[in-house]
Amino acid sequence: MANETLIALVTGANKGIGLEIARQLARAGVLVLIGSRDVERGSAAAALLSSEGGRAKFIRLDLNDHSSIEAAAETIRTEHNRLDILVNNAGIVDAEDGPPSSGSPEAARRIIDTNFIGTLAVTQAMLPLLRQAPTARIVNLSSSLGSLTVNGDPNSPYYSARLIGYNASKAAVNMLTVQLAAELRGTSIAVNSVSPGYVKTDLTGHTGFMTAEEGARLPVKYALLGEDAVSGQFVEPGGTTPW
Ligand SMILES: NC(=O)c1ccc[n+]([C@@H]2O[C@H](COP(=O)([O-])OP(=O)(O)OC[C@H]3O[C@@H](n4cnc5c(N)ncnc54)[C@H](OP(=O)(O)O)[C@@H]3O)[C@@H](O)[C@H]2O)c1
Repeated sequence: MANETLIALVTGANKGIGLEIARQLARAGVLVLIGSRDVERGSAAAALLSSEGGRAKFIRLDLNDHSSIEAAAETIRTEHNRLDILVNNAGIVDAEDGPPSSGSPEAARRIIDTNFIGTLAVTQAMLPLLRQAPTARIVNLSSSLGSLTVNGDPNSPYYSARLIGYNASKAAVNMLTVQLAAELRGTSIAVNSVSPGYVKTDLTGHTGFMTAEEGARLPVKYALLGEDAVSGQFVEPGGTTPW
């Protein structure tokens, strides 16, 4: 088993940070399953990484479509019967999100439905496969905006970023990390929340300080944690993040 190729599923891997996570994992010799809700975009990303010499396969996965999540888990079970790495990367923002006094509740519902409920559903569907691996790693893409401490700290650079739907969705993802890490204590599955930093992607309108390649580095590091991996942590490029 020690020399067997690791298998990773990256959700939302057709562009942005997810594509770069997939690329860096493929370069590390991992067989990467490119989760994408769109067949053409996902197939193109898998073909791109394959053309670069990596091992990558498209798998259809829409966080808002439970049957696609079940079908993806069944495909992985049939073809590999295990999963070593799950990177819960897919996520959205919404133009109608905003401060708690005026942000659209429907926008908050859409964001939480994708970023939290979808991530929870994917994690539950993949857990039996992760339990089949000798050691497994779950990386939840969070954000410093999901930190209750940061949101309440007037000295934080993120203090004024009041997006009630998005920030609450990432706080909920953090709760998933904390509770799942506690539930999985004593197993060989580690689960952590990783904030990639402020990254130039479609999600940020290409504002941000980091390239997608740079933003992928910390999630990849936590996806490839070895024996004695930490679990239940919330980290960002500068170190540990307060919850
Ligand atoms: N960029 C930043 O500064 C930053 C900071 C902190 C955290 N993050 C987090 O990092 C992750 C990646 O963000 P990004 O900046 O790379 O964003 P992005 O470029 O907009 O990419 C988001 C990815 O998620 C996919 N996605 C969205 N909804 C989906 C659904 N229902 N089912 C399946 N896939 C879905 C998108 O697919 P389509 O192409 O089909 O839309 C795309 O592949 C997100 O969780 C985000 O919250 C980003």
